[in-house]
Amino acid sequence: MPLHRLSSVTIGVPDVAATAGYYADFGLAPGADGWFATRDGGDQLRLVQAPTRRLVELRIGADDPDDLDRAAHRLEALGIPAERGADTLIAYEAVTGVRAVLQVEPRISQPEVPATRYNGPGRIERAGARAPGILRAEPVRPRKLGHAVLGTTDFAATSAFFRDGLGFRTSDMIGDIGAFLRCSTDHHNVLVLAAPVAFLHHTSWQVDDVDDVGRGASAMLDGHPERHVWGLGRHHAGSNFFWYLKDPAGNFAEYYSDMDTILDDQLWTPETLEGARGLFNWGPPPPPSFLRPDDLAALMTGAHSR
Ligand SMILES: [Fe+2]
Repeated sequence: MPLHRLSSVTIGVPDVAATAGYYADFGLAPGADGWFATRDGGDQLRLVQAPTRRLVELRIGADDPDDLDRAAHRLEALGIPAERGADTLIAYEAVTGVRAVLQVEPRISQPEVPATRYNGPGRIERAGARAPGILRAEPVRPRKLGHAVLGTTDFAATSAFFRDGLGFRTSDMIGDIGAFLRCSTDHHNVLVLAAPVAFLHHTSWQVDDVDDVGRGASAMLDGHPERHVWGLGRHHAGSNFFWYLKDPAGNFAEYYSDMDTILDDQLWTPETLEGARGLFNWGPPPPPSFLRPDDLAALMTGAHSR
């Protein structure tokens, strides 16, 4: 696939300072101009001021300029204008207002983190030592941005923009209301969800293993129980462990580990998931506010008055 990574996400929030403190606690490293860095992916989150919380921009890595030309032609066939720069292609998804920037850049290379040694029946991988998950003392710092999930009032149009226009591949579907799309070897980098209003549902950040999902979330909840949304659990689509938290603007942020990887498009068969499988495989039941965040009505009112 000519696309190879989800490079960054820009989120608009009313109170940048309060939200910035949250993402610093989350383990992202603050830099200049509202940018935050992950350990392996460089600057991957940018916070900007906006009247109401929203997904402003997604940047997506492509291998070479020809890939941008091909995407431009596909967008044109969909009737979507795109602006071609030297190494970028910029297009707006009309329903959600999200700006997508395809940019020519090197592929991400992540240093190999040795597998965590977990003991199992008939399999002693760690003898005479306590588990790394209880010995680690350093704060969790996400390795990279994994995905962004956006709600849209026109599911067909928004998923067509990413899939047929930009060139994302479909990994799985949730009935006819959700599309897990990838622009890398990760199972999904964008999930488009049918919703009563366009909004950012969550961003998701990779950590080393399930212990770091738990350690990261526990540290975030220490003194801030209001940040809890849903976890610990394991998704069905993508298989990843998850724990969702909420930033002060109302955006969810997920720690994840162990997501399915698709190296060969021919060796993956997308499935259409029905019912709870679209949401998760195991874990506590999702709270109602996971699917319909508490501020959705307010966002709808805001959308109508714009
Ligand atoms: Fe997620």
